[in-house]
Amino acid sequence: MRKIEVAASITTADFGNLYRVVRKLERAGVDRLHLDVMDGHFVPNITFGPDVCAAVRRLTDLPIDVHLMISEPARYLERFIAAGTDTITFHYEIGDSAHGKHATLARIRDAGRGAGLAISPSTPAKVLRDFADDLSLVIVMTVEPGFGGQHFMPGPAGKIAEVRRMFNDRPRFSVHADGGVSADTAEVVGGYGVTTCIVGSALFQRGRDTALEVQEVKRAAGNARYDAR
Ligand code: DX5
Ligand code: ZN
Repeated sequence: MRKIEVAASITTADFGNLYRVVRKLERAGVDRLHLDVMDGHFVPNITFGPDVCAAVRRLTDLPIDVHLMISEPARYLERFIAAGTDTITFHYEIGDSAHGKHATLARIRDAGRGAGLAISPSTPAKVLRDFADDLSLVIVMTVEPGFGGQHFMPGPAGKIAEVRRMFNDRPRFSVHADGGVSADTAEVVGGYGVTTCIVGSALFQRGRDTALEVQEVKRAAGNARYDAR
């Protein structure tokens, strides 16, 4: 079985009890936390900013990935770097030039953090080729960014395999599937060679056993047949 990581997205968790949420996720065996930052402009929803990321950082030693769904990541970058998270990813679709995106990725790397780009469902994987030397992770969106709890889109998931092929020579590169990933859909993204399953609402539904869901996602994705060529 391939070893697949689970990154827990707290977007649909109880924000009034983040301490308990984080403890529960640690006990459930998640490998990383995934923090969805939304600005009400790039996406039609608002979540939280760098201060909450810093607060979560103080709660845990788990690696933390920040997923910026904001129009101007460069403008707020220092504050997210100061929040102490391990990786910072922003969207390819922001209205910034290629030069601007390269510069932002370089600032993230210079701060010693993993730098990532996320691609929305309608963005082709080939746009990432120009950034091959800049990236330590890619997030492939399997829902339209903006809300937790949406249905998994199987079509865009196929880009995971393209991204894997593009970065195959990179030992520590990771490709994350984000949106609608659960024990029911993990086999699909596992079959495309995903390294990290981002799981949100499936971990927080009433009556669900969070630890069991984490195990089942890892099992379903890890057992899926993936042919690297
Ligand atoms: C969507 C976010 C996702 C999402 C994951 O814009 O980037 O991380 O909240 O949650 P589920 O698993 O509920 O789709
Ligand atoms: Zn996300």
